[in-house]
Amino acid sequence: MRLGIVIMAAGKGTRLKSKRPKVLHEIGGRPLLRHVIAAAVQVVPPQDVLVIVGHQAEAVAAAVRDTGVRFVLQAEQRGTGHAMQCAEQATGDYDELIVLSGDVPLLRVETILALRDFHLREQAAMTLLTAAPDNPFGYGRVLRKRPGAPEVAAIVEQKALTPAQQSVREINSGIYAFRRAALYPHIGQLRADNAHRELYLTDLAGILADAGERVVAIEAAQATEVLGANTIAEMMDLDRELRLATARRLMSEGVTIFRPETVTIDSAVEVGPDTVLEPYVQLLGQTRIGSDCRIRSYTVIENTTVGDHVVIQPSCVIADSAIGKGATIGPFARLRPGCHIGEGAHIGNFVEMKKTRMGAGSKANHLSYLGDAQIGSGVNVGAGTITCNYDGVNKYQTLIEDGVFIGSDSALVAPVIIGAGAYVAAGSVITENVPAEALALGRARQVNKLHWAKNLRARREARKSEPPK
Ligand code: UD1
Ligand code: CA
Repeated sequence: MRLGIVIMAAGKGTRLKSKRPKVLHEIGGRPLLRHVIAAAVQVVPPQDVLVIVGHQAEAVAAAVRDTGVRFVLQAEQRGTGHAMQCAEQATGDYDELIVLSGDVPLLRVETILALRDFHLREQAAMTLLTAAPDNPFGYGRVLRKRPGAPEVAAIVEQKALTPAQQSVREINSGIYAFRRAALYPHIGQLRADNAHRELYLTDLAGILADAGERVVAIEAAQATEVLGANTIAEMMDLDRELRLATARRLMSEGVTIFRPETVTIDSAVEVGPDTVLEPYVQLLGQTRIGSDCRIRSYTVIENTTVGDHVVIQPSCVIADSAIGKGATIGPFARLRPGCHIGEGAHIGNFVEMKKTRMGAGSKANHLSYLGDAQIGSGVNVGAGTITCNYDGVNKYQTLIEDGVFIGSDSALVAPVIIGAGAYVAAGSVITENVPAEALALGRARQVNKLHWAKNLRARREARKSEPPK
């Protein structure tokens, strides 16, 4: 038996009122379609997954091309039945087809396997995956031949329900299995005589049943996993479900998450045991946090690797960087892409860094901008230090070797090298390299004018007592 999976993803998503195609809207930090593909490729190899694209086909394909799936073009979107008509040639090699919807993203692999196994065991022409959610409004309803029987007589779309059918709670999930040899001989019978003037794939249930083919249904274990995302509000409901599931997974792995309903954790994020996440933390993209860390409130971390025993104080913004074991960051620190913070280093409040490597045990505790800098270990960067890395056209490197002490409020005009163990006096503007172990002073010598202020005040007083002119 050769099994292929078709994912319908050509629709526009009119109900979203968005320029972006529906299947590229994100939940849990990745597009709907990516969630569906991730499940599909655990059932069959990627080359046996066919994604039907149409609306903004190029953009949709480009967003998932790296997964190795194949694409079928549905140039005009004339309904789900028409989408499957477009896939007739491309599916020619398969005996059985599983059809998934690009906008039903929470479907679990176990459920796809259960659908496949049930379909094969029942030797059905068509098998529907169904559910009985609390609110069935908007979904197609499944009419069984007899209550409790596996056989299905038809699917009726919401807009076509008779008053009596309104009370049917069993919904069509839009996920099916077909025996291909039963599907294509009958697919030409679909008619667009409905509210949307489209060819409905759902009509095949009735068509096949009437032709004496076996049409059956299996209910999903959890109604939530087959919920569709047709509106932004529905999508955000699914996003919340998914992120709560991610938070629960992490908690089951030993992570403490205070007020898990407030955190935003993308699906791919990993966190080690005994790490504590405070309320309103966001961990995004491919972020990995070690064990025994504390990530405090309002911190946002994206695509970053954090070692063990790291403390990230409140309100830090960190992206595309790596933070070594035992470092402390923040509060209010910003690490822009390309930062490497060494073991045990300290990055304090109001420090901004970009493409900067900070060695082990080095400190920049207050109010600095460090960009395009290579900083050794055991370095102390004083409050208010600025790397002047940009001349309006090009960016230049600052090299600060091991054990350097940079006095407060220094400007390091790149390209410049501060040799190992050197001191830079506070308030310096450093434009030339500093030799190792030297003291660099780059500021005007101080002049004290004795009694100057007292004299000034005396002159003012004298002017006040003059008669007005
Ligand atoms: C569909 C089902 C409905 C079911 C619901 C479950 C039909 C007629 N109705 O309704 O019974 O309860 O799913 O979520 O199928 N698509 C294409 N090409 C098209 C039209 C749609 O590829 O021409 C794709 C869409 O991108 C989407 C999927 O098919 O991923 C479902 O289409 P959608 O318009 O969302 O169908 P529903 O109205 O939700
Ligand atoms: Ca839908």
